[in-house]
Amino acid sequence: MNIVKVKDYKALSEEAFSLFKSVISASSAPVIGFATGSSPVGLYELICYDYIKNGASYKDMTTFNLDEYVGLDVSSDQSYIYFMKHNLFDHIDVNPKNINIPNGIAPDIEKECKRYSALLASSSIDLQILGIGANGHIGFNEPNTPFTSTTHKVKLTDKTIQDNSRFFDDIEQVPKYAITMGITEIMNAKKILILANGKNKAKAVFDMVKGPVSESCPASILRRHPDAVLIADEDACSLL
Ligand code: F6R
Repeated sequence: MNIVKVKDYKALSEEAFSLFKSVISASSAPVIGFATGSSPVGLYELICYDYIKNGASYKDMTTFNLDEYVGLDVSSDQSYIYFMKHNLFDHIDVNPKNINIPNGIAPDIEKECKRYSALLASSSIDLQILGIGANGHIGFNEPNTPFTSTTHKVKLTDKTIQDNSRFFDDIEQVPKYAITMGITEIMNAKKILILANGKNKAKAVFDMVKGPVSESCPASILRRHPDAVLIADEDACSLL
C-alpha cells in the first residue's frame, strides 16, 4: 500500500482530488466507486468546484456507491443517495442514468443485493474511494466479514451505530441494517483510494497498515491490492 501522509484535511482533499482527476482524465468513460461519510466531503467539494468554476465535465462518468441503509431512500436526508446528491451529484453534470447505488427500500433486499452484485460483476471500477471505520470496516463490511464476500445485507455493529448516530437526531433513528458492496467487489477495483483523517482513525489505520491481514480488520486486506493508496493526515498516522 502506498501511503501519502499529509498535514491536514485540506491537504488530504487536495491530494485526493489530484489522484481522482488523473483517473478521470485517463478514460473517456471512467467508472468511479464513491463512499459517503465525512472523509470524502472535501474531495467532493473540489469536484463540484472543478465543474462549476473550471467547466470540467463529468457527463461520461459512471458511479457505483458502496452502500445504503436498509429502509431509507432519497426522501430521507440520512440516506446515502441523499448524501451523494446533496454533496456531489446534484452539483455536477453526471448523467442520472449512470448513477448506481443499492436501493435501501427494495421490497426484496436479498434480491436487490444480487442485482447490485451482478451489475458490479458486469462493470469494472477504475477507482474506488473508501473511508475507514474506527473499527477497520470498509463499506459496511464490519470486522469478521469474510474477505470473499460480495454485495450483502449486514447488521450494523453497536460501534458503527454509535459512530453514525452523530448524523441523526437520536441514536434510535440509526437504521440497524445496510446493504454493502462486498470485500471481493471492493478489491476488484483497478485502483483504491483510502482517506483517513483525525485521531479517532489512528488505531484503524495502524491495524490496516501494520497489523496482520485478518478478517478482524477488514481494511487490512487492502494491503494485498496491487494499487491501493492511503492518503491520511498526521493525526490518523500518529500510531504508525
Ligand atoms: C461510507 C462507508 C463507510 C465510511 C466509514 C468512515 O459509504 O461505507 O465505510 O467510509 O464509516 O466514515 P467517515 O468518513 O464518516 O469517518
